[in-house]
Amino acid sequence: MKQITLTGIKPTGQPHIGNYLGMIKPALELAKDFQALYFIADYHALTTVRDKKELAHLTYQATATWLALGLNPDEVIFYRQSDIPEVFELSWVLSCFTTKGLLNRAHAYKAIVDDNIAEGREEDKNINAGLFTYPVLMAADILLFGTHIVPVGLDQQQHLEITRDIALTFNKNYGNVLTIPEAVIRKEVMTIPGIDGRKMSKSYNNVIPIFAASNQVRKPVMRIVTDSKRPEDPKDPDECNIFAIYRHLAEVDAVEAKRKLYLEGGLAYGEMKKELFALLEATFSEQRDRYNALMENPGELDKILEKGGEKARDIAGPILTKVRKAIGV
Ligand code: TRP
Repeated sequence: MKQITLTGIKPTGQPHIGNYLGMIKPALELAKDFQALYFIADYHALTTVRDKKELAHLTYQATATWLALGLNPDEVIFYRQSDIPEVFELSWVLSCFTTKGLLNRAHAYKAIVDDNIAEGREEDKNINAGLFTYPVLMAADILLFGTHIVPVGLDQQQHLEITRDIALTFNKNYGNVLTIPEAVIRKEVMTIPGIDGRKMSKSYNNVIPIFAASNQVRKPVMRIVTDSKRPEDPKDPDECNIFAIYRHLAEVDAVEAKRKLYLEGGLAYGEMKKELFALLEATFSEQRDRYNALMENPGELDKILEKGGEKARDIAGPILTKVRKAIGV
């Protein structure tokens, strides 16, 4: 039996290159060696998204993104969190083994509290209990499947620690019922710069989208911030935001050739931007067509997710039964 790797995909709209290089590509690689369970965390999104059409649309976008970029639903168990009722039953059970203090210390919650205090508002203003118990639902997502490995970004590290903490507390009381998962933190995510040189992130407005029309991709690429060295000047490739993206997408030989050109001088940043744009087109145009076709066919997306959900429930059922037996219900 292969070990289980699982991760939740928060549906956040159109993907950018940072999402692809930082999360999607490594997750698809991991799926070759593990039984992968990847799911759309739509009930986590409900803590903030309150528009029915938007939530559905975001879920379809995330689903189409992963399929278009190469997720094979015959190999990866690919599903929608809200299709798995077992998650929510386990979530309640786990909440009874989670101290409130543990949740009080969660960074995401604390950040909103700190913001409220800084703005002179009541400290729990605009915080719903779903936001507060978000880490418990995440623990249920993970523990329900006997997960061994959870690949996540650095921002989720604490959530994984909380998951382990909850599982250990449960096991201390009932014996070795739950598998204790390991986080695999992708540090890589941090090094994909956006067009302004900060980490690529929607909230910084510095992204290069993957599936947008060509001119929407070209525009941000041509606006990538560089220093003011002239074409003939030698340049440090490792200080260049264009190269930082290029090197992850181009063939090894091409990357080495460019690195030499940077160091020797003779390369204009404008030319390098054009090359990066051409590379993005070559790399993603087929996937973009597939994405657009999938988005026009939400019925197909539903079918794929439902089938994945059935497979996921086959794994979840026996584990939840074990938990219920352990508790005595
Ligand atoms: N909280 C994660 C994020 O914001 C998404 C997520 C939900 C998740 N459940 C999970 C990640 C379980 C890993 C495992 O990105």
